[in-house]
Amino acid sequence: MRRIHIEAHAKVNLGLSVTGARPDGYHDIETLFQTISLSDTVFLEASKAGIGLSCEGIQVPGGPSNLAWQAATLLTRELAAPAMSITLFKRIPVGAGLGGGSADAAAVLMGGRALFDLEASDTKLMSLALEIGSDVPFLLRGGTARGVGRGEILEPVAPLSGFCLLLVTPAFKVRAEDAYARVRIGLTRDASYTKLNSSAIREGELGSLVTAFRNDLEPGVVACYPEVGAVKQALLDAGVQAAVMSGSGPTVIGLVRSSEEATSLLPRLGGHGWQIHIVEPIDSGCRVEGA
Ligand code: C5P
Repeated sequence: MRRIHIEAHAKVNLGLSVTGARPDGYHDIETLFQTISLSDTVFLEASKAGIGLSCEGIQVPGGPSNLAWQAATLLTRELAAPAMSITLFKRIPVGAGLGGGSADAAAVLMGGRALFDLEASDTKLMSLALEIGSDVPFLLRGGTARGVGRGEILEPVAPLSGFCLLLVTPAFKVRAEDAYARVRIGLTRDASYTKLNSSAIREGELGSLVTAFRNDLEPGVVACYPEVGAVKQALLDAGVQAAVMSGSGPTVIGLVRSSEEATSLLPRLGGHGWQIHIVEPIDSGCRVEGA
């Protein structure tokens, strides 16, 4: 039976401004999204026994609350796709501000279209993605993008490279709803993303990227979870160029020039029970392989 696998890449928010509350309960944001080398692997095959989901690596619930399950349900309902069996090999920390569940859902949409040769335009997949969550449209496409609205209105930004990120994730989860409920709107309303000079960043001048490293959700999350502030301070003390919480947290990302530099800082971050990943920016979203 045909089986495909998809690399579902995580994202970080290099910066995130919350510009207002919306009548639909969401918030208008302006964010700089970046996909990173950390990924889950999602295996898909047709199933005669209805939608199924199992998990290897980090464990997550396998039922309808899982965004990958919701993506498979949408494909059957909206595009008459056959049922599929999903196996997630999870490496992206869960509830961590890295879009792991959203990336898995994007992978099921993209992979399901390839597996069953579904007639669905990219625009249709993007609209299904938004039904699942605000970050899913970006994770279908990936790369570097400015996201406005709920984060689903995407404008490409010249690809960023020439830096690495140290991801430090404390051992608890933050619900996006809670992070947004405590937001201080408009703290970072200076649109620093527009000042990014991609070619200077590629050549190692990280100054304009440093100015993007601000997140309006961070003060509210730090007030509730002071350990997030401690993680940020530990990264700054270790010598990163800049540090900011990603999305709704609790992962804090630290900006460094190279993986060698990141590795040299590791001894200063140990002993707290934090998960640490060294990642680089990548220029794609989920990638279907073995179709
Ligand atoms: O879209 P998603 O399901 O990921 O959002 C989870 C929660 O985060 C929403 O229910 C909402 O409370 C909050 N949110 C928001 N504004 C956004 C994105 C998410 O208020 N732009």
